[in-house]
Parts: sequence; structure tokens; C-alpha cells
Amino acid sequence: MGKDTITITDNRTGRQTELPVRESTLGPDAVDIGLFLKEAGYFMYDPGFLSTASCQSALTYLDGAEGQLFYRGYPIEQLAEQSNFTEVAHLMLYGDLPTATQLTKFNNIITHHSMINEALKGFFHGFYHDAHPMAIMVGVVGSLSAFYHDSTDISDPRHREIAAHRMIAKMPSIAAASYKHSIGEPQVYPDNSLSYTGNLLNMMFSVPCEKYYVDPIAEKALDLIFILHVDHEQNASTSTVRLAGSSGANPFACMASGIAALWGPAHGGANEAVLSMLDEIGDVSNIDKYLAKAKDKNDPFRLMGFGHRVYKNYDPRARIIREMCHQVLAKLGKDDDPMFELALRLEEIALADEYFIQRKLYPNVDFYSGLIYRALGIPANMFTVMFAIARTVGWVAQWMEMISDEEQRIGRPRQLYVGPTQRDYVPIDQR
Ligand code: SDX
Repeated sequence: MGKDTITITDNRTGRQTELPVRESTLGPDAVDIGLFLKEAGYFMYDPGFLSTASCQSALTYLDGAEGQLFYRGYPIEQLAEQSNFTEVAHLMLYGDLPTATQLTKFNNIITHHSMINEALKGFFHGFYHDAHPMAIMVGVVGSLSAFYHDSTDISDPRHREIAAHRMIAKMPSIAAASYKHSIGEPQVYPDNSLSYTGNLLNMMFSVPCEKYYVDPIAEKALDLIFILHVDHEQNASTSTVRLAGSSGANPFACMASGIAALWGPAHGGANEAVLSMLDEIGDVSNIDKYLAKAKDKNDPFRLMGFGHRVYKNYDPRARIIREMCHQVLAKLGKDDDPMFELALRLEEIALADEYFIQRKLYPNVDFYSGLIYRALGIPANMFTVMFAIARTVGWVAQWMEMISDEEQRIGRPRQLYVGPTQRDYVPIDQR
């Protein structure tokens, strides 16, 4: 038996199967089960992918027990403290922090891809005014391949790079246009003199009738929140992007699939659900009632913004955003926000509750982010759109890594079949 293998013994037949081990640079090694069906005659069953590595990646590392998150090896705390969103985007796409010259060039490229095709205006007007902005995002992003034929040859590295730049650059413009449509205001074009987040704020909140001044506090707060949302290894939406991309689908269609998957309240939709939950709880006096509902197996209510598949410790992003909440709300003169007070008390009571302690349920990235978005004047139905803008960097980086991975092939999971065994058709007059 090799030292870099494990052996599985089939107790029903006594047969032993030796499987190679793939070594990681951080975290658990992986057992390569690719030939297990052929050699042992079994599928491996793992419906929620609790123990399954779907790919190898050099992008993002999470340690769920320690509550650690690294982008390309850099701790999220250091990037949050010292970096900015487009610098982190460069890091994720190209593997290292840019020089000043590289960053200036990258920022220029992103800035000059931020306009969207004028014909798309009609697409936005086709939606009813009360369309959820995420519904518009899925539709408009998916339609981009109808405009950008010159960057959809996924076998061409240059096409892949241009498509990545376009996606990162255009998400704020599409998001802002979705918002403007929902409030019946005219779309605002990007302003190349503004930063990435300054541009988003301007496109969302400026109106033709008066000069808009970007609040530097809001600009910086959004930039920091976007850094925290850039990537998170093989979460549901990223895995969706990879699976769509594995079939050779064009990059815009892949991003649209990621947006769709992110929308779910168990995933990126949780930030909007947290605000609805806090609104429903209403007052500290109701916290115990809602914690009881969250613990009741017969009640579908869950404490939104709590729990995580990987983190069994405090989500490091939640810790940073929680601290940010104090600072940003104070700077914006909103630190008496009763919703923030309620969130702090809810967290304090939940973290002292045996049910949450035993299941290692801590606040995740979505628990506090909505409070900052709300303080910045962003409506709740735009919270997951904000998440999607930032996560587009992770999605495109993961998509590019997948396509360049020689081991990657079309994703095609199998199943444990538990349906009827073979039976013959019965004519309707004999049923
Ligand atoms: C994101 O994967 C990522 O990396 C995602 C993300 C990213 O950056 O991409 O981090 C972003 O999606 C964060 C998660 C946002 N979702 C929410 O806040 C929704 C509320 N959380 C839960 O729905 C849940 O915690 C999940 C979906 C996040 C995780 O689900 P798991 O890993 O499948 O955990 P589970 O459902 O098996 O829960 C284990 C136990 C269960 O109790 P028992 O059956 O063991 O008795 O914990 C309970 C659950 O009932 N539980 C909760 C709970 N979360 C888990 N009980 C009450 N409230 C909760 N929030």
C-alpha cells in the first residue's frame, strides 16, 4: 500500500480498493475517488457536498473551525484594512497584488468597460416597475452574450480576460439601471472620473436635476463590504457558475446562472431576509419568541444571517462588518438605529443559547451587511444585487481557473437511484 493512498475495504465482499490522496497546501487533503465506481462498483453519496471537493483551486481558502478566510493567501482582515476592491479584483484575476502601474492600468480598463449597450435600455423598460432587481439582473446579464460576440470564444485566453473585465465593469451599471427602473427614474451613465463604488453610488442616487456629491464615507464603506464579498471557495453560486461553465456555456450565461443561485434566501438572499426578519421581530421583547421559532423543527422560521456550511466559528467577514456597522452608522449619524440595536441584542442572546452553541451557529456575512446598506440609503431589494456585484469578481476568477484546469471536464454528477425497478406498460383500460 502506497504512503500517499488510502484503502477502502468492502465488508460485504472483503474487496479492498486503494485510492490516491491529493495533497493540499492548506486544509484537508483529498482522496481521489474518480475511479472508485470502476474499481469498487460504488458511487460516493454526498447530496449537500459536505465532504466533497468538486475541484482544485488556488483562489480562496476557508478554515471553518478557526474562522479564517484568505484570498490568494492574504488574510481577509489585512485586505479589508489595507486594500481596495479593484486591487482585490486584480489579485483574484492575476494571482498577486498589482504594482501601482498595474493597478492604474487595470482601473482604466474596468472604467472604460463600464458603459452598457444603449439597446439594453429597452430591455429594462420591458420589465414591470415592481420587478425585483435580481430578476432584472438575471435577465440582463444573461443577455450580454447577444451584444459581446467578440469575447465569447472561451478557448481564447484573451476573450476570457475581456469577458471578465466586461462583467466586473458592467455589473454596477446594470445594477444601478435595475434600481433606477424600479423607482421610475432615468438611467445615469457611468462617470469615468469616479471610483468603482463612487460610480455605483452616482448611478444609483444622482438625478439629472441637481449635482450629486459622492459621500466618501459611503464610498469607502461600500468598497470594504465589496472586498468581503468577493469570493468564498465553492459556495452554491460559484459551484453553479463552474458547472454551467464546464459545459462550455458563454461567460455571460455562466454569470447569470450564478446570480440566479445567489438569490436564494439560504445563500446571498439572506441579507435581504435578515432585514425582513429584524423588521418582523420588531422589538427586543420579541427575541425569545423568535428564537423559539428558530429552534422549533416544525417551524420553517430560521434565524437569517446565522449559521454556515463551513464556518463553525464566527464568520471573519461578519466580525469585520459588525465593527464597520458601529463606525459607519456613527459617521452617518445613524448609530441610534433601533434595527442595529436589535441585531446586537439578537446576536448576544442567540450566542448564549445552548441550541446555537451546540450547533456552532454564528452570525455570517449577511447578518450585518444589510444594516450598512440600509444606512447608505440602499433599499432591501437591492441588497443581494450588491452581493452579486462584488461576487462577480469571484465568479469570473473561478470560471477562468476552471477553464484553464487541464483536469476539468463537463460536470456530470451521478445519483443513488431509489425509484421503481423495471415494470411493463399497462394500457389505460387495464389500470
Ligand atoms: C451565504 O457557502 C458559502 O460560503 C455562502 C456564503 C458565501 O459567501 O458565498 O458565505 C454566503 O450564503 C451565507 C449564509 C446565508 N444564509 C443564511 O443566513 C440563512 C440561514 N442559515 C441557514 O439556512 C443555514 O445555516 C445555512 C444554509 C447557511 C447552512 O445550512 P447547512 O450547512 O445545511 O446546515 P444545516 O441546515 O444542516 O443546519 C445544521 C443544524 C440544523 O439543526 P439539526 O437538524 O442539527 O437539529 O443547525 C440548524 C439546522 O436546523 N440551523 C439553524 C440555522 N442554521 C442551521 N437553525 C436556526 N436558524 C438557522 N439560521
